[in-house]
Amino acid sequence: MAEQEKAEVLLKVKEKYEPPKEIVERAWIKDYESLYQESVKDREGFWAKVAEELHWFKKWDKVLEWNYPYAKWFVGGKTNITYNCLDVHVQNGKRNKVAYIYLDEDNNEKKITYGELLELVNRIANGLKSLGVQKGDRVSIYMPNTIEAVAVMLACARIGAIHSVVFAGFSEGALRTRIEDAKAKVVFTASYTKRRGKRIDLLPTVEKAIDGLDFVEKVVVWDRGGDVLSEEKGELFVNFDELIKNSSPDCEPEVMDAEDPLFILYTSGTTGKPKGVLHTTGGYMVQTYYTSKTVFDLHEDDIFWCTADIGWITGHSYIVYGILANGVTSLIVEGAPDYPNPGRWWSYVEKYRVNVFYTAPTAIRMFMRYGEEWPAKYDMSSLRILGSVGEPINPEAWHWYYENIGKGKCVIVDTWWQTETGAHMITTVPSYPAKPGKAGKPFFTLEVDIVDKDGKRLPPDTVGFLVIKTPWPSMLRTCWGEPERYEKYWNTIPGVYFAGDLASYDEEGYIMILGRADDVINVAGHRIGTMEVESALVDHPAVAEAAVIGKPHEVKGESIKAFVILKKGIEPSDKLVEELKLHVRNELGAIAVPDEIEFVEKLPKTRSGKIMRRVLKAQELGLDVGDVSTLED
Ligand code: WT7
Repeated sequence: MAEQEKAEVLLKVKEKYEPPKEIVERAWIKDYESLYQESVKDREGFWAKVAEELHWFKKWDKVLEWNYPYAKWFVGGKTNITYNCLDVHVQNGKRNKVAYIYLDEDNNEKKITYGELLELVNRIANGLKSLGVQKGDRVSIYMPNTIEAVAVMLACARIGAIHSVVFAGFSEGALRTRIEDAKAKVVFTASYTKRRGKRIDLLPTVEKAIDGLDFVEKVVVWDRGGDVLSEEKGELFVNFDELIKNSSPDCEPEVMDAEDPLFILYTSGTTGKPKGVLHTTGGYMVQTYYTSKTVFDLHEDDIFWCTADIGWITGHSYIVYGILANGVTSLIVEGAPDYPNPGRWWSYVEKYRVNVFYTAPTAIRMFMRYGEEWPAKYDMSSLRILGSVGEPINPEAWHWYYENIGKGKCVIVDTWWQTETGAHMITTVPSYPAKPGKAGKPFFTLEVDIVDKDGKRLPPDTVGFLVIKTPWPSMLRTCWGEPERYEKYWNTIPGVYFAGDLASYDEEGYIMILGRADDVINVAGHRIGTMEVESALVDHPAVAEAAVIGKPHEVKGESIKAFVILKKGIEPSDKLVEELKLHVRNELGAIAVPDEIEFVEKLPKTRSGKIMRRVLKAQELGLDVGDVSTLED
């Protein structure tokens, strides 16, 4: 279906699903409307009250200092996020409560309690100190989705080092860019990860990525199989197990200012290399904690499962920080969702009695294809709340999720947010009705609007740019080393935060997200910059020029199509298509590989030489190309 028609169908969605009475009765938020009204009248008062639920070594002097476009939250407050994620629970009788249940593809299970996790984190933290890592230093983490990786993140936070997690599915080029930009002093990795039963080595990728980067002082390797660290590897490499074996399990948390950096996470933009989104300690802690609590409605005995990877913001906020701050038990799973069979995830829901489950529409659509017989094999009656994130959930997938996973008894929360926002921004909370395909209403204190390019508010049911009018605690503070890129979020339309998404709102204030307004492609819930893929292609000796667009895809949401001009004298061939795909895979990783590559003679450009991807996309989809007055010819 053409995108235009799809938008029209979605705009007509009027259905509403009332939450079951039992869910409303236990919900932390019973009356969204009145609390929202109250929250926008006194934003600072609202967040101060939330922040009081957490531990501070010293209370803040001022909740917000807004010096457009720069915000400081909980000014003067001192805390450590790991203290709230770990120590607080250990002190409150939860030392022996399970923090994580980890599972690999062979269903090997590993559990770690809050007490054990604190000790592991402290050992790594002391290990980091012994390597000379200090507060403010950057540590890159290129590790699979495991308890060990989470512990390394927390260990950095423990001592005030800034972590930069790089998704372990990225290849050497992407990894190198990120290590280089952050000037990481230490890199953590594992010998391998496993996917679909296959061992994927990680250490060789790291070795290539850091080649010649002399600011990298140590590479700490979690040698899972005990087979990659040999004597001749040299002084650069440190064995993770030995590092922690020789360290003390006690480590005082670094006293962090609320505005001290917590982590950098790279994400794709329209232009140039990925941006290092910087999050700080206090505000991020408060908003991830509170959204976890109220959107997922977490209670003491809940078993939570976010299927994301720690390499993305979803993993940072809702596998690690927000979830641990609530002290619940959650699952962390390595490997493919449908391996060894499409029942893998549902068998875990049954076995561990998962109550709250958080995944992406692309996964749902994949399971829809496998058929409802897979989830039907398992008892999933423990589920209460189902979350969706990463891309718009089409009503068909919403209904399938609701019926086949939720059995018509669960609430769906469709959470819109971004790497930059740090935490949920637009969603329903479980106690008020959801509408399939519409994310819901702004979270507390947020004022969201849909506007035209001049910032003028649009009427309901029209498509415009999504903007946020007021600062929020977990907002990004800057882009690492590139303040002008940060400022662009706030001056594209002066005075408001420009999210980069197209959206519309209905008469009841429900917001529907329609997708990106820029050249960012959303492949299976992952952001891929057109420029990054184009650069990778042009880097190949056969390629003169390349342009990349996103195309609607039934399962992935969008897929990548590349248009390539070859250098003079080079003949197009199927073999070359495969070679180019492999090249992108090696440079960036599997998620950035184009599904289609078309060789062309010419690309549509503006007179100033900028590729008009919009024109390529319209042609590809058979849509009206729109205004082409700037086109070269
Ligand atoms: C972009 C942000 C937030 C964690 C995962 C992605 C899209 C995200 C939704 C949703 C429609 C969504 C937007 C956004 N997006 N959640 N519930 N409905 N679209 O984080 O990589 O920073 O990407 O993902 O286009 O701008 P990210």
